[in-house]
Amino acid sequence: MALSWRNFASRIGMDPEPHPRPPAHVLRLQPYRCVSSLKQIEDRTDTEPYKLDWNESTVAPSPRVEEALTHVLSNGAKLNWYPDLAAEDLTAALESYTGVPRDSLIVTNGSDDALLLLCRTYLRSGNEVLVPVPTYTHFLVHVGAQNARVVELRNPNPFATDLNRLERAITGKTKMVYLVSPNNPTGTMWTSRQIDYLCSSYPNVMFVVDEAYHEFSGQSVIHLTQTYSNLAVTRTFSKAFGLAAFRVGYVAAHPRACGHLWRLHNPKSVNTFGQLAATAAVHDLPYLESYVEEVRAARTEFVSRVRELGLEIFDSVANFVVLRVPQPHRLTDGLEKHNIYIRDRSTMPGMAGCVRITVGTREQMDHVFGCIKQVVTEQGWV
Ligand SMILES: Cc1ncc(COP(=O)(O)O)c(C=O)c1O
Repeated sequence: MALSWRNFASRIGMDPEPHPRPPAHVLRLQPYRCVSSLKQIEDRTDTEPYKLDWNESTVAPSPRVEEALTHVLSNGAKLNWYPDLAAEDLTAALESYTGVPRDSLIVTNGSDDALLLLCRTYLRSGNEVLVPVPTYTHFLVHVGAQNARVVELRNPNPFATDLNRLERAITGKTKMVYLVSPNNPTGTMWTSRQIDYLCSSYPNVMFVVDEAYHEFSGQSVIHLTQTYSNLAVTRTFSKAFGLAAFRVGYVAAHPRACGHLWRLHNPKSVNTFGQLAATAAVHDLPYLESYVEEVRAARTEFVSRVRELGLEIFDSVANFVVLRVPQPHRLTDGLEKHNIYIRDRSTMPGMAGCVRITVGTREQMDHVFGCIKQVVTEQGWV
């Protein structure tokens, strides 16, 4: 009897359904596990949701954003045309906002896209990338996609930075160092002096400083990009500006470094509405500043109330804090009953028992505190 291809292939150990396979280093990657409360929130309409799991802004963006979008949509927006490939208006607005010249700025599709661009431009197979952990893990996927190796640097105290430990870990194979400042989720910061020292001491290493939360900290190393061509600073409109839905970010780097990055940059990656929204938001800095002030005040108040309750809490200079409790899933589950969503970070290195909570306005955090108090009292933890 004639064998079918399927039977024959199985018998000789071949794939019975041949298909193109990606290279081994891609097959080794795990898809980024997106744990988001969005579906639960959409399914529930009984009470106001508190989405405090992704460090987004907890309020709408500047009203200027809606005005700009409405204006364009009602005045014959050319939806059949590609966006401004040079993102001229946004780049001009960013030039004055950041204080670095336009030949040092590249607008990207969220800061994730800026991180990807950096990895694609600078990394190749066999390179090592040093990453103090715990940190923002999505970056690690971009490193793996280049077949480069992540070297995780664990600090016994994850709530502190350690420059000596970092320096000791830099080797001849280190091509890039990824420093998130303020770090997600621990809130630690690298100072301008430390970054200055690192960039001047290791000119062959690319230092990527992720400043996704810099508006809240009020500190930045962006000015150093004008001195060092081995420094790139990534930033986003997804956090303090409240524009996560639009996917806009940027990278600031020395013009020499930008010259390299432009080679692989996709000029169509930031759509017309993202560019418009971000430009309108940068033109309304008082709105941004008042939200940042509100979050700072809410954070201070929230941290002191949680401490008074007798719980362990790690403050930050960003729009999130970390709480350590005996059984984190009981807190997340308990808060979900109140339509409050926070992020369990207890499986991250050095983060046993930890949950991360996005900080919003004082009014929002007052409500959140009341619910936390109820859950932890029910659990008998205080
Ligand atoms: C440290 C850090 N970098 C980058 C991002 C991604 O931001 P974007 O929305 O700009 O891609 C996040 C999002 O949570 C983050 O925490």
